[in-house]
Amino acid sequence: MTHTEIEALVKGFIVDTATGPVNARVQQVVLRLTTDLFKAIEDLDLQPSEIWKGLEYIAEAGMTHEIGLLAPGLGLERFVDIRSDEAEAKAGLTGGTPRTIEGPLYVAGAPVSAGYARLDDGTESDKAEVLFMQGTVFDAKGQPLRGATVEVWHANLMGNYSFFDASQSAFNLRRTITTDDQGRYQLRSILPKGYGCPPNGTTQRLLDQLGRHGQRPAHVHFFISADGHRKLTTQINIDGDEYLWDDFAFASREGLVPAITRISAPDELAKKGVDQAFASIDFDFTLYADTPDAPAAEVERTRVSA
Ligand SMILES: [Fe+2]
Repeated sequence: MTHTEIEALVKGFIVDTATGPVNARVQQVVLRLTTDLFKAIEDLDLQPSEIWKGLEYIAEAGMTHEIGLLAPGLGLERFVDIRSDEAEAKAGLTGGTPRTIEGPLYVAGAPVSAGYARLDDGTESDKAEVLFMQGTVFDAKGQPLRGATVEVWHANLMGNYSFFDASQSAFNLRRTITTDDQGRYQLRSILPKGYGCPPNGTTQRLLDQLGRHGQRPAHVHFFISADGHRKLTTQINIDGDEYLWDDFAFASREGLVPAITRISAPDELAKKGVDQAFASIDFDFTLYADTPDAPAAEVERTRVSA
């Protein structure tokens, strides 16, 4: 079939069959995606068995909760971020902390504390390097934001996240910190390790077919929010990771790889209450003020709550 014939056929299937109220946006999207899919089937001469394999793949990815890995693995989550960056630039918003992908492993409801929190429960203390990370949340004019919310979460040394990894304590490596009067936050945790897609899962199986790995460099996730400001979804990467610029999820960005300082001076250790050298990261966040000129920064998606 020609593309013109396909367009007429799909319109006949999707639009001309309506006998009740139509959600115009849903109709527009379904019409477009179905038309594009049919064109691809025609152009690539996809066979019925291939089409059913594809549908079964999507079903399995859904049943095994891997859609949230497939989206970043295909670059969809990064693409959406690029579009959000473009929309903000068009609205004159530049110079803030770069956003990057949320990923599928946030859990709402982490314990809240003022100014400081320790994230780790100590179970990996004998194997891990202690991390102190601190900084200030600023507005776009460089003024510190007191009472801003810093939601932080990261993986353990096995590359696993609490809640999804039931062997970890509740909210291990997850906290919400509100900034102090000077807009500052500080956290103590362990330096996380990178991780990969489940080796036999749907995402990795597809990546295998594409000759790609499914590894992420070590990173720490953040949601930063403050009244009157656009929510920031971002991560920092742990410098030195072999996958730093080879992330299967395309989340590494300039400006999100802070320097790590190793601190070993005895008085500094004493001040921090630790007995071995630790890693220290300084990182400030800069938020944009709310504006009607750019699409909402808050992304609606189903998130786990514990
Ligand atoms: Fe992650």
